[in-house]
Amino acid sequence: MTAARRNANNTPMTGPAIETEGLTKDYTTGFWLAKKKRSLDNLTMQVERGEVFGFLGPNGAGKTTTIKLLMGLTFPSAGTARILGRPVSDVGMHNEIGYLPEQPYFYDYLTACELLDYFARFHGYGAAERRERVERMLKKVGLETAGKIQLRKYSKGMLQRVGVAQAILHDPQVVILDEPMSGLDPLGRREVRDIILELKRAGRTVLFSTHILGDAEMLCDRVGVIAGGKLRGVGAPKEIVGVQSHGMEILFEPGSGAGAAGILEKAVRMGERYRIEVAEGELYGAIEQLRAAGAKILSVVQVRQTLEDYFLELIGAEQARTSAVEVGEK
Ligand SMILES: Nc1ncnc2c1ncn2[C@@H]1O[C@H](COP(=O)(O)OP(=O)(O)O)[C@@H](O)[C@H]1O
Ligand SMILES: [Mg+2]
Repeated sequence: MTAARRNANNTPMTGPAIETEGLTKDYTTGFWLAKKKRSLDNLTMQVERGEVFGFLGPNGAGKTTTIKLLMGLTFPSAGTARILGRPVSDVGMHNEIGYLPEQPYFYDYLTACELLDYFARFHGYGAAERRERVERMLKKVGLETAGKIQLRKYSKGMLQRVGVAQAILHDPQVVILDEPMSGLDPLGRREVRDIILELKRAGRTVLFSTHILGDAEMLCDRVGVIAGGKLRGVGAPKEIVGVQSHGMEILFEPGSGAGAAGILEKAVRMGERYRIEVAEGELYGAIEQLRAAGAKILSVVQVRQTLEDYFLELIGAEQARTSAVEVGEK
């Protein structure tokens, strides 16, 4: 199968890379499909060209639903989505997009080389260019020695990397990766991180979803936080999470001076050391007390909110527990 090679001029060169307006998805569920469940509720957002955008949210937040809508794999109940200025229903635009599904499934008995060659064919490359590209992609994702092995022998992490290679094989302008780091060990995560940064350097737009704050913080120009199907905030990772502090943590070795016993009562023992958490405003007072008690202060760090804390605070404990919002009977 061949498809037309992409032509850089067939999409507008300015404007956001991805934009959604009131994008909404209701799934029908239950007996007679009588219930509607709103998995995505009125999502309006933009991803600028050249940006690395993290779509951040707990499981069941609506990330995959959004990505499937962007890929035209499912249809919105309301709202619109455009990529590179063109509606996502415009199939011609889709060879400007690279896509890694959440759980990529590839035919077990193909080798990575065969699979990538198939996709390269699909994108219309000739034999010599296919060979060169497949080799380059395998190298990029750290699978250069595994290209001739059947995919059924691959680990989850290796399959994930083949999926990334497949997504970027045709130099797409916009790369959409659904949980690209899931199932990867630290080295694999780093490799995917490096690939995303390289795409950014090459001026590509990357949108990836993750439920892991650290991955988003390290890579993203901006993140959009989604929970319960609703966009809860958009901004630089630091603006969104991470700055909120729950206080200061002091790690110390206890002394035997004045007030030592009182301090230890409030501290948590960690082997030889003790840990105490105080509000930011009480930090200096606590340090004074520890000094007076003859304690040796080992470290003082800000206690950072976890993503879970953040979600709970943001949307309330009740909603965080329910994965999507029920919108009642049809
Ligand atoms: N095909 C489907 N039919 C019914 N409900 C679905 C379907 N796909 C997803 N959902 C529901 O929509 C909500 C959002 O799911 P999803 O977009 O997969 O979340 P995320 O990717 O953020 O974990 C979840 O409650 C999920 O159960
Ligand atoms: Mg998902």
